[in-house]
Amino acid sequence: MRTQTNPNDKEADMKEFRGRTAVITGAASGIGLELARRAAAEGMNLVLADIEATKLDAAAASLGIDAGRILAQRTDVSREDEVKALADAAFARFGGVHLLCNNAGVGLTRVSWELSTADWNWVLGVDLWSVIHGIQHFVPRMLQQAEGGHLVNTSSVAGLLSTPGMAAYNVAKHGVVTLSETLYGELLAARAKVGVSVLCPAWVPTAIHESGRNRQERFGEASPAAGLSAAYEQRMASAVKSGRLTAADMANEVFAAVMEERFYVIPHRKINNAIQLRMDDIMNLRNPTQLP
Ligand SMILES: NC(=O)c1ccc[n+]([C@@H]2O[C@H](COP(=O)([O-])OP(=O)(O)OC[C@H]3O[C@@H](n4cnc5c(N)ncnc54)[C@H](O)[C@@H]3O)[C@@H](O)[C@H]2O)c1
Repeated sequence: MRTQTNPNDKEADMKEFRGRTAVITGAASGIGLELARRAAAEGMNLVLADIEATKLDAAAASLGIDAGRILAQRTDVSREDEVKALADAAFARFGGVHLLCNNAGVGLTRVSWELSTADWNWVLGVDLWSVIHGIQHFVPRMLQQAEGGHLVNTSSVAGLLSTPGMAAYNVAKHGVVTLSETLYGELLAARAKVGVSVLCPAWVPTAIHESGRNRQERFGEASPAAGLSAAYEQRMASAVKSGRLTAADMANEVFAAVMEERFYVIPHRKINNAIQLRMDDIMNLRNPTQLP
């Protein structure tokens, strides 16, 4: 396992993936499933977590690897006790965790003033608190490992932009970017053999536009989208479906970044112009430019 470039620590551990352990959340579908496939192909032990138990078991079986190398544990990543239980299970079973992919996520498209408190709690819980809990319960133990490790937190280009209709998602994903940047600096300051990367994809054809399927009962149902919210919802769904890069491409980008010790993983390079435009708006005190 390679770790973050640390100018203070030239001895940073640079071992291989083979025989190491990866924990992947949201592993039953989309990007998480492809991360699991890639980790399996690299010869890693796997701890797969997802809220959809049946799909998770099917995903684990589909990898076709020895039962001794894999653990699938139903986990609601928005709940701290369940993330702690996942960490306990992973360390107990494999004795260490070397790659943690905080990847599970949900999306909800509504104009800001139509998002209920339950909507906010759901999206922030799954998309932001999950990463916070992952850091709380995995990082202290990863820091104790002689061989080091690496976290990959899945944000989105929504963590770098402010696209209308996606307020809760944008807030959560901006949170994941700044949380990851902060962690990066802290790990360097601590001379840690643990690194971190943040994954910021644009549109990838997965089941993210059907996230409501996983909304926990405690949050109730979202009210039906109408008017502008419905238009944004439709646009988001067709953008996801038309995404050119695949979930497998995301997994390749992630593993390349971990090996290169690269923090920012932004596979859709065409989005750079939009990011630059936002930065220019800020630097020039210009009102936010709206893209078509
Ligand atoms: N697909 C895209 O266009 C896109 C773009 C940018 C970022 N992302 C991010 O990529 C990540 C993976 O999403 P995806 O596109 O593969 O979507 P997906 O819906 O195919 O996969 C998400 C997985 O997360 C799981 N999940 C949902 N709620 C959960 C919970 N409370 N606890 C545990 N697991 C839960 C789902 O069951 C599902 O298996 C998400 O964080 C998403 O925000 C996706």
